[in-house]
Amino acid sequence: MTSNTQHDEQTPVDFDTLADNAFSRRQFLGGCVAFGATSFVSACATGTNKAQAASPLVFSALPASTADNVVVPEGFSWQVVAKWGDPLWSKGVEFDQNSRGTGASQELAFGDNNDGMAMFTKEGKHILAVNNEYVNRGIFHGNRADGKPINADDVRKSKAGHGVTVMEVTEKYGQWEVVKDSAYNRRITAPVRGHALVKTAANPKGDMANGTFNNCGNGETPWGTYLACEENFNGYFSSSDDTYKGSAEFKRYGIKNKDRGYRWAMTDERFDISKNPNEPNRFGYIVEIDPTDPTSTPKKRTALGRFKHENAEVVVAADGHVVVYMGDDERGEFLYKFISKNKYNKFGRNTDLLESGTIYVAKFSDKQTGEWIALTPATTGMSEAEIAIHTRIAASKVGATTMDRPEWVAANPLKAEVCCALTNNKNRAVKPNAGGDDTAVNGPNPRKKNNYGQIVRWMEDGGIHTAKTFKWDLFVTVGNPTVHNDAYAGSSNITEANIFNSPDGIKFDSQGRLWIQTDGKYSNKGDYANMGNNQMLLADTSTGEIKRFMTGPNEAEVTGITWSKDKKTLFVGIQHPGEKGNSHWPDGGSSVPRSAIIAIRRNDGGLIG
Ligand code: FEO
Ligand code: CA
Ligand code: CA
Ligand code: CA
Repeated sequence: MTSNTQHDEQTPVDFDTLADNAFSRRQFLGGCVAFGATSFVSACATGTNKAQAASPLVFSALPASTADNVVVPEGFSWQVVAKWGDPLWSKGVEFDQNSRGTGASQELAFGDNNDGMAMFTKEGKHILAVNNEYVNRGIFHGNRADGKPINADDVRKSKAGHGVTVMEVTEKYGQWEVVKDSAYNRRITAPVRGHALVKTAANPKGDMANGTFNNCGNGETPWGTYLACEENFNGYFSSSDDTYKGSAEFKRYGIKNKDRGYRWAMTDERFDISKNPNEPNRFGYIVEIDPTDPTSTPKKRTALGRFKHENAEVVVAADGHVVVYMGDDERGEFLYKFISKNKYNKFGRNTDLLESGTIYVAKFSDKQTGEWIALTPATTGMSEAEIAIHTRIAASKVGATTMDRPEWVAANPLKAEVCCALTNNKNRAVKPNAGGDDTAVNGPNPRKKNNYGQIVRWMEDGGIHTAKTFKWDLFVTVGNPTVHNDAYAGSSNITEANIFNSPDGIKFDSQGRLWIQTDGKYSNKGDYANMGNNQMLLADTSTGEIKRFMTGPNEAEVTGITWSKDKKTLFVGIQHPGEKGNSHWPDGGSSVPRSAIIAIRRNDGGLIG
């Protein structure tokens, strides 16, 4: 049974009519000019002058799959580029299926659970920066009886399985591979400045961060740097003193006494909150890395706020300021944007543009308008340092809209259209967020116990990314029309042929097409019947059409996306295959499942991005 009813109760904003009007008027006027108050689409916002509709990518949509493999459409091929444990230097050792590596081998190898990534080029070389978000403890420590670290080397290995990998890759005879021993190869175990809240025993001055971990989605800047976003940093902290009473701030950020299984505090007191209560304040940031300079020191950009950062979508607004859109992936948390104080200079130094500026949080009205509220000492009653460190609390004070877990934000390079994947939220209209904020259903989060997710889309007023007001709609409300015939069936662009749940990674390609990756339930039963494994879909935001392009192996998430410079290769991340013990991807047989980056190409050598 297919129900194609439109379940969004609001009158949809007709983005495309507005876009068409804006474009025809712009073309008529022949330049970047301000339109009337209702015309908010302008290619000028990103300095481009291209047509607004996405170019189609021709392929036959795939059926849902439960195969323990990657499937791509006819006319496309895929290969593994790098998988967890692959050595990046010739002094490293090949992955050991029994021990699954040691501290020493893992420090010289690609980390586990790859997530956000971006390709950089320098002097003809392809340099891939990739997040290794976390480790699948049951697999990573599968040589231990309970799948948990038991000694200092296991913890060393766990830390090395995290962080960021920078590695050169090259294409030989049509196959991409890692360039071992490249001068660019690097594992980041690098170092908020000075404020009393971030001074710790490991760094009494509070000026070095001493590492990064749980880097989820990513960003990239026009000046050639990579942004790694620290997400679930709370899970690595615990207390050796069961009676330790954490602060209200700890509660808001989910920092608890009980160890979650990483056992880092077992060998490193930095992670013992009863001994070093300020240590967690040094995590939850966006880290800026220059992948083309192996000697550069990564920097935590505290002005972008501290929360469970998903990704960081960077755009240069028409007025030259840099805007970074960011989601805080937790039930009932918020959507943010940062506007730099200084302007981007195409021919100058931009290295500290993310050092100073203002962070704003989104407040959506039910009438499909919204505003960005500045988090400042005047609006929050908090100091600038407190806003940077306890950003969630600042946002609650200004009445931001609680969201259904904001995952990636993506900005269309061809028009001032921005989307955010709201992955799901079982707590919607069930209980408040950790700060006590109400989570009743609201405009962009319209369903109680939202188990499927939606993608909210907005256009900044005036077509300029620095605007303080916007208009929004839901590009898609995900659901299952084979099971439900109410709001949980989804919006009209969800059909039996393209159903999925829990949109997470999203990215527009250079042609203005929206790629959607999922991190959802893969039971293929009940509410999730007929959806199969996690997958990647391609959407045309002008028409609303969504087609399934790729399906992933068993118990894997599809996350992370970037392209080769010539746009003939699409790189995609496959994360946590077999997280519940039911996959042998990618090597098959009885092998240990390993997260990996794959390369997808068209068999005719054409463009794919
Ligand atoms: Fe690491 Fe919110 O996904
Ligand atoms: Ca994610
Ligand atoms: Ca997710
Ligand atoms: Ca996942």
